[in-house]
Amino acid sequence: MQIQDVRARELLDSRGNPTLEVDVELGDGTVGRAIVPSGASTGAYEAVELRDNDADRYGGKGVLTALGHVRGELRELLTGRDADDQTGLDRAMIEADGTSNKGRLGANAILGVSLAAAQATANAHRQPLYRYLGEHYAPGSSVGTLPVPMCNVLNGGAHASDSTDFQEFMFMPVGAPSFREGIRQVVECYQQLKRILGERGLNTNVGDEGGFAPSLSTNRGAVELLVEAIEAAGQRPGEGMAIALDPATTELWADGKYDLEREGRVVTSDELAQLWGEWVRDFPIVSIEDGMAEDDWDGWKTVTAEHGDSVQLVGDDLLVTNIERLQRGIDERAANAILIKLNQIGTLTETLQAIKMAQDAGWNAVISHRSGETEDTTISHLAVATGAGQIKAGATARTDRTAKYNELLRIEEDLGSDAVYPGASIFGRQS
Ligand code: PGA
Ligand code: ZN
Repeated sequence: MQIQDVRARELLDSRGNPTLEVDVELGDGTVGRAIVPSGASTGAYEAVELRDNDADRYGGKGVLTALGHVRGELRELLTGRDADDQTGLDRAMIEADGTSNKGRLGANAILGVSLAAAQATANAHRQPLYRYLGEHYAPGSSVGTLPVPMCNVLNGGAHASDSTDFQEFMFMPVGAPSFREGIRQVVECYQQLKRILGERGLNTNVGDEGGFAPSLSTNRGAVELLVEAIEAAGQRPGEGMAIALDPATTELWADGKYDLEREGRVVTSDELAQLWGEWVRDFPIVSIEDGMAEDDWDGWKTVTAEHGDSVQLVGDDLLVTNIERLQRGIDERAANAILIKLNQIGTLTETLQAIKMAQDAGWNAVISHRSGETEDTTISHLAVATGAGQIKAGATARTDRTAKYNELLRIEEDLGSDAVYPGASIFGRQS
């Protein structure tokens, strides 16, 4: 089916910043639509999100330049092409951009078109996106694995002011029998957490991803609160409800050390690796993302050698969904899982390649939202299509976050008896 038209507009993300929405229309009138997300604690090696930097509009955050590229160059490039050929479309856009980081046309412009084309094609085939992508991702194998959600219920770092140094403290319902039950359990723990915070006179306002953002004097205190909430909800910490962390330590890295400002101390990579070891021993923590900074390869190798057997170590800023950095990570045993963010790399094809490379190496892939999100639910479909087994989409509150979980609830219903919820078995997959 040929692409007939490509349209785009500037609209708003969950922080009220402008972002791009793209429509791809096919010859038979079928339309696919996608909205591009945006990060706050972005990695230095991510593909370029093109902003206007024009002080007159949105404090420089406008995306009219990227919008112009979609309406002009990319529309001209792709009109008349076969929308079924996702790889060809993505390759053509990468070549037209001509840079190694999509800095000329903008990863936001290219990703919007890439995802809208995939959605249009799925619509033309009268298939939900997860099924269409899944059949192409792993031909012949059955699509049906729901992800275990990582739900960020306590927000700190760059996602909340006056909170913890570490960015994200998450619930993972690893003992639930289904996605639906897992979500229910997380919501019950989230409500208990809110009650506990309130009773202690701590703030229950929420941060960018819908998690609470209390002012705590230690980072460890945040994990203790999560354990208490799990117990108060009648769940078993560990086998029932586990904890995942994203301390996003690139944000804390300065002069070769980690600055834990809330605690008034600066630690080395070795000390931080030791801290993660203690936390994994003391708490039901099953996953730590960006436990070391994006340029601290030695720190990553140390923490993986010391603790990689007992905890999932996920590279986000370190690997930025980029197969070259992922290959290095695999070769140097610098992590054992990758975080997948579509807009870190800028095309669906390259994203699928990164997931495949990770899975082939025996690594887990965690499909992720950004802290700036919208009602778009592409990542829910991507998680099921690739059988990734894990998704990170914020708290079970705020429409930009629940949009992803709600779509997964629909997909689980659509799959019926074919739906598989992997629970704790996702950690047995790693080599
Ligand atoms: P970001 O945060 O979207 O602000 O980069 C999410 C993360 O670090 O995983
Ligand atoms: Zn992260």
